[in-house]
Amino acid sequence: MFAKRLRLALLVVAGLIVGGALALAVFPEARDRLLPASNMRVIGQALIGGPFELTDHAGKRVTDQDFRGRYMLVFFGFTFCPDVCPSALQVMSAALDKIGAKAERITPVFISVDPERDTPAQLASYVQSFHPRLVGLTGSPEDIARVVKAYRVYAKKVEDPKSSAGYTYDHSSIIYVMNPDGTYRTHFAHTTNVDAMADRLAKLP
Ligand code: NI
Repeated sequence: MFAKRLRLALLVVAGLIVGGALALAVFPEARDRLLPASNMRVIGQALIGGPFELTDHAGKRVTDQDFRGRYMLVFFGFTFCPDVCPSALQVMSAALDKIGAKAERITPVFISVDPERDTPAQLASYVQSFHPRLVGLTGSPEDIARVVKAYRVYAKKVEDPKSSAGYTYDHSSIIYVMNPDGTYRTHFAHTTNVDAMADRLAKLP
């Protein structure tokens, strides 16, 4: 009786595992959206980030090298985003403000996935509304495609009749912490609260 039940339980568990694995294999977009955090950990630090060349909100061309020597707190999004981006940027900004002088070792960076609308001027007014040190980065569609790929970010243009431009972006909402040497360190979910983020940022070595 016991053995029979155990066998049944094992079968159910095996079925769930196979079903889950199949779903993730068949629907990569679902995987990216549902499992960004665990996915990133498995991929490991070497594969997230890397060289980029972009244009900052002052219109100046910059590369990843310009950010060396400080941690980067990086979020990808777009200025027309109605909800996720503003809340993530608010949490980032408040967390930095909360840790005082320790925040000076960290450069907050917002990289646009919507270079069509996010010109440097558009980014400038946007980033300044969140934090005086928040750096907005945009570029050509090719520049953005490269950095999106390097950071394993999911960003997809989708039709949106409610938007004046007729489109919006579905995008992943991970907040990355990159080391002063440019390598990946850790990440936060955009749902992280200010206190939790501030604690972890304050503990950076
Ligand atoms: Ni967004």
